[in-house]
Amino acid sequence: MNKTVLITGASSGIGLNFSHKFAQSGHDVILVARSEGKLRTLSEEIETKYAVKTYVFTADLSKPEASKELYESIKEKGIQVDILINNAGFGLFGEFEETELSKELDMIQVNITALTELCKYFGKEMVNRKEGRILNIASTAAFQPGPLMAVYYATKAYVLSLSEALANEWAPHGVRVAALCPGATETGFSDAAELQSSKLFQSGVMNVEDVVEEGYKQMMTNNKTVIVPGVKNRMLTKSIRFLPRKMVTNIVRKVQERV
Ligand SMILES: NC(=O)c1ccc[n+]([C@@H]2O[C@H](COP(=O)([O-])OP(=O)(O)OC[C@H]3O[C@@H](n4cnc5c(N)ncnc54)[C@H](OP(=O)(O)O)[C@@H]3O)[C@@H](O)[C@H]2O)c1
Repeated sequence: MNKTVLITGASSGIGLNFSHKFAQSGHDVILVARSEGKLRTLSEEIETKYAVKTYVFTADLSKPEASKELYESIKEKGIQVDILINNAGFGLFGEFEETELSKELDMIQVNITALTELCKYFGKEMVNRKEGRILNIASTAAFQPGPLMAVYYATKAYVLSLSEALANEWAPHGVRVAALCPGATETGFSDAAELQSSKLFQSGVMNVEDVVEEGYKQMMTNNKTVIVPGVKNRMLTKSIRFLPRKMVTNIVRKVQERV
């Protein structure tokens, strides 16, 4: 029987590519996002191409009740989640006093709260079964503060910290937890975050297929806990450890500014 993987944010970008990758490797896939039309199209494409089962669940994870309802709907259908990919997330660019608080609260709900709830519900079952995998999508933003995207960087620092702690707690129970930390990647993310003209995205982005390929291999084959795709991103995240944090924060601000 195929293993089943649940992917949040499957309707575009990294999540969509992970859906193809897991299906191609013989996994049944649970597709979750708000855009039902996109998920249905993806589901048909995957079932035709790879002969695996797909399930579509539409959910707005910025709603406080959504994660619990998603978990309960999956239980009601009697589906076992063997692998959880917490990928849904978004950012917001701007000076903190000017950005919209409601958008930032939604971001915290999606990037932090929903991710934590899904780790709790499905992770607990994995621990009881003594088997399972969770991949949380953090970012290279997780490694330092990010002026002009202050809340987003802080959410990703949380995701990295939580993932490393759970990896430690659950390793003896046979459950592997990892954090994928991509740098700027070509997806719908920069449009959603109003980041198109930021120097960060003008100075070169990584191809989404390469990010997913590396994430999949490091997680499924090499059992890595912290996965930073791309040599440039790995060098950056390692080198900042040796610099004063204030200096790093100033550099990030320069990189984030619009050209
Ligand atoms: N692209 C980058 O440069 C980059 C770098 C580092 C980390 N990341 C992280 O990678 C993850 C995926 O982003 P991406 O780059 O693939 O961007 P994307 O193309 O914009 O995809 C974001 C996904 O999240 C879903 N989503 C957003 N809000 C949601 C909500 N309220 N409820 C349910 N689903 C929601 C979207 O689906 P719907 O709109 O259909 O709901 C979409 O499928 C995010 O966690 C992001 O922070 C991205």
